[in-house]
Amino acid sequence: MPGAQAPAAGQAWSADGYVRHAGFVSSLGQDALVLLNPQAGEDVLDLGCGDGTLALRIIETGAAVTGLEPDPSMAAAARARGLRVLEQDAHAPFGDGAYDAVFSNAALHWMRDPEQVIANAHTALRPGGRLVAEQGGFGNVAAVVTALHGALTGLGHATPERGPWDFPRPEAQQDRLEAAGFTVTSIALIPRPTPLPTGIAGWLATFADPYLAHLPAAARPDVLSRTEALLSPLRDHTGGWWADYVRLRFAAAKPD
Ligand code: BEZ
Repeated sequence: MPGAQAPAAGQAWSADGYVRHAGFVSSLGQDALVLLNPQAGEDVLDLGCGDGTLALRIIETGAAVTGLEPDPSMAAAARARGLRVLEQDAHAPFGDGAYDAVFSNAALHWMRDPEQVIANAHTALRPGGRLVAEQGGFGNVAAVVTALHGALTGLGHATPERGPWDFPRPEAQQDRLEAAGFTVTSIALIPRPTPLPTGIAGWLATFADPYLAHLPAAARPDVLSRTEALLSPLRDHTGGWWADYVRLRFAAAKPD
């Protein structure tokens, strides 16, 4: 999912491009949905709902869903599918005791202040409510990040001082959740090499702008082709590309 904050520096979204290059993100959200286990009649907030693909799956269970999505292109795509969407950043409050569950898939790693977002989720839940999420975890896309750094420095360009993504270890995320008042009921780091339907070029075109936005346009093709070359170990015997994804999946309850 594109994430529930204003896009990271240099990152812009296109709902069409996202579906083409990263539509697998929603299809792989199934395990997180199982952990959410939505019930008919529940009110669920989907934090970083993107184009609404997973929100529609939740609605099929009889739960009501509000999407939270700051990107106008994604929010419009979700609304076009009939979803109610709060078009805002998750760092701003998004409810007070209003929801039975806050759900998030592949969005929390975009948050520049995860503690604030977790606190907002806690406030948005009723007592006894739950936060269920999957995001990139420790080691996620480490090869891709290393290759981007290698290509940028190798070609004499600066690298961002701080990476755009937050990929915590389970222990660190559990500490954050408990500090906000949650009781963690499950948390696990899950390596999940993931096939890329449009190759590493499609992935970089969709997600790598935070690493490339500072470059003059003419410098970009060389950085991209050097990054691809450095990443050749991510190709399988058929030539297909895989991303070195590692998921952090957790459920946490707001005590009664
Ligand atoms: C992810 O889903 O793991 C991811 C997506 C975009 C950028 C970085 C990581």
